[in-house]
Amino acid sequence: MKNILITGGAGFIGSHVIRLFVNKYPNYKIVNLDALTYAGNLENLKDIDQASNYVFEKINILDADALKTVFAKHNITDVIHLAAESHVDRSILSPLDFVYTNIVGTVNLLNTAKEFWKEDLTKHLFYHVSTDEVYGALGETGLFTETTSYSPNSPYSASKAASDHFVRAYAETYHLQTVISNCSNNYGPFHFPEKLIPLFINNIINKKPLPVYGDGLYTRDWLFVKDHALAIDLVFHNGKLNDTYNIGGFNEWKNIDLVKLLCQQMDEKLGRSTGESEQLITYIKDRPGHDRRYAIDATKINTELGWKPTVTFEQGLAQTIDWYLKNTEWLNNVTSGNYAKYYEAMYS
Ligand code: NAD
Ligand code: TYD
Repeated sequence: MKNILITGGAGFIGSHVIRLFVNKYPNYKIVNLDALTYAGNLENLKDIDQASNYVFEKINILDADALKTVFAKHNITDVIHLAAESHVDRSILSPLDFVYTNIVGTVNLLNTAKEFWKEDLTKHLFYHVSTDEVYGALGETGLFTETTSYSPNSPYSASKAASDHFVRAYAETYHLQTVISNCSNNYGPFHFPEKLIPLFINNIINKKPLPVYGDGLYTRDWLFVKDHALAIDLVFHNGKLNDTYNIGGFNEWKNIDLVKLLCQQMDEKLGRSTGESEQLITYIKDRPGHDRRYAIDATKINTELGWKPTVTFEQGLAQTIDWYLKNTEWLNNVTSGNYAKYYEAMYS
């Protein structure tokens, strides 16, 4: 019996983790703690929100008193921490938001857990979900391993790197039991259309320009979000204490090649003529501090925990496009209101 606090559960990856745990572990109580920022959306959890082992708490991780109350109310035994400001471009516009949520918020959560579990820290786990972006940029070759030095280049990755260091420090200093995973770029259903793949799907549907930064030759290692959730399940249950696991898709794509594949698949699904969507590609000014290449060596999680991706990129991308084409109401809801203002500020 566990009472697991999952933070950021109304966001993209968090909602998939919540769904997996609620369905797979009926004996666990799953407490979803989320502030419902622009990125948090309870519609992402409509299919499971009536489950008897699921509870939602609208709380900001900056509110230390509220965290204390929630730990006591639900007798929290473990934490899976995903709540974060997560978009690099927003971190360039507004770095302090990232310092507050990603660093101060994580330290608040660590303090609350340490204090609430102090009678026997050995019975509890604090799992921190992080990103491969903490390692900085790769050149043409090489892969990030768990021992690659941290070298973050954006305010987002700097704030995530700091949060990883705090988690490590709490394990060393206070003997809090922790684990960290650093994952590559995710894609899939419920992805907010500010990130490359859902933004471009939405723009292709609406025949709007596809804004490719710089020369388009930046490389990312893409992983289907449900495979990330499965990895989180394994790391949570079987990961070595106070250790780190890299999670990746073994799936590197240059942005422009990915965008062309997306255009082809969407032309087919929308019944448009071949090459129609590619005409929307528009090269625009580069993102400052843009990391050239990310790629993960996921050997450790594969050999120690037996994890590997279950779908190919072509399958995952097709499932993702189908989901967006079916869920136009979701897409219209998240792109109404402030989204237009953000879009204007970023791309006008
Ligand atoms: P997301 O932006 O979709 O969701 C973040 C969630 O956190 C939202 O529901 C939001 O409401 C909530 N949140 C934000 N600030 C909060 C606060 N102060 N208090 C409480 N809740 C708050 O993010 P995501 O893409 O699902 O990423 C989840 C985690 O995984 C993040 O920690 C991110 O760094 C990490 N990660 C993401 C990726 C990726 O490709 N998206 C890859 C590797 C790691
Ligand atoms: P993104 O989805 O923001 O993820 P991250 O920056 O965390 O890797 O971007 C993925 C890649 O796509 C990255 O190289 C930046 C690029 N990109 C564009 O070319 N145009 C865009 O409008 C966006 C959002 C991203």
